[in-house]
Amino acid sequence: MANGYDSDLTEKYHYQGARLVAECLEQYVDKHASILNAGAGGGLSGVALAAKGYADLVAIDLSEGMLQSAREKGVYRDVHRMVLGEVLDFEDGTFDAVTSVGIFTMAHAPASSFDELIRVTKPGGYIVFTLSEEAYEKAGFKEKLASLESDWKWSRVEMQPGQELSQGSGVLHQLWVFQTSI
Ligand SMILES: C[S@@+](CC[C@H](N)C(=O)[O-])C[C@H]1O[C@@H](n2cnc3c(N)ncnc32)[C@H](O)[C@@H]1O
Repeated sequence: MANGYDSDLTEKYHYQGARLVAECLEQYVDKHASILNAGAGGGLSGVALAAKGYADLVAIDLSEGMLQSAREKGVYRDVHRMVLGEVLDFEDGTFDAVTSVGIFTMAHAPASSFDELIRVTKPGGYIVFTLSEEAYEKAGFKEKLASLESDWKWSRVEMQPGQELSQGSGVLHQLWVFQTSI
């Protein structure tokens, strides 16, 4: 699956975002972990996680059409329609980690999404996500990420500077890793 996934996306679509996040996650989170894939879209990020050996995957997205496509990938334990920026229908501390690829951009999920993503992550869990440089500067993410850290909600583990999720797109996305507070 890993080889098929990599060749499909990098050769045909030149899409590397899902792989970058999966490679980053495996540096911090073991393969038995429960993972919330927030803004899962058609499930390519779930396929990348499954290719790395993650088996306990839950997808959320606001689009039923995208979620149907995600279901058909056969890699998610559960798939739910939920909207980032609103209250999520999960108990506190449900997941060991959250991943999110390509949804923190201009006119997509808002910076306020992180309040709920932190709530549904276990203390000491990881939140790994891409964030477009433009959204970081212009959509309130810079301030939100910093305020969550100064409020001791999470601490920054890593930030990889801007890179393209799809080669040739010209849109640069940072890759951030935070650990939720214990
Ligand atoms: C560019 S796609 C990325 C999909 C997937 N993460 C991937 O890497 O293939 C963006 C996705 O974000 C979803 N989305 C945008 N805003 C959202 C929000 N506020 N809550 C949940 N999903 C959202 C869209 O429906 C779409 O499926």
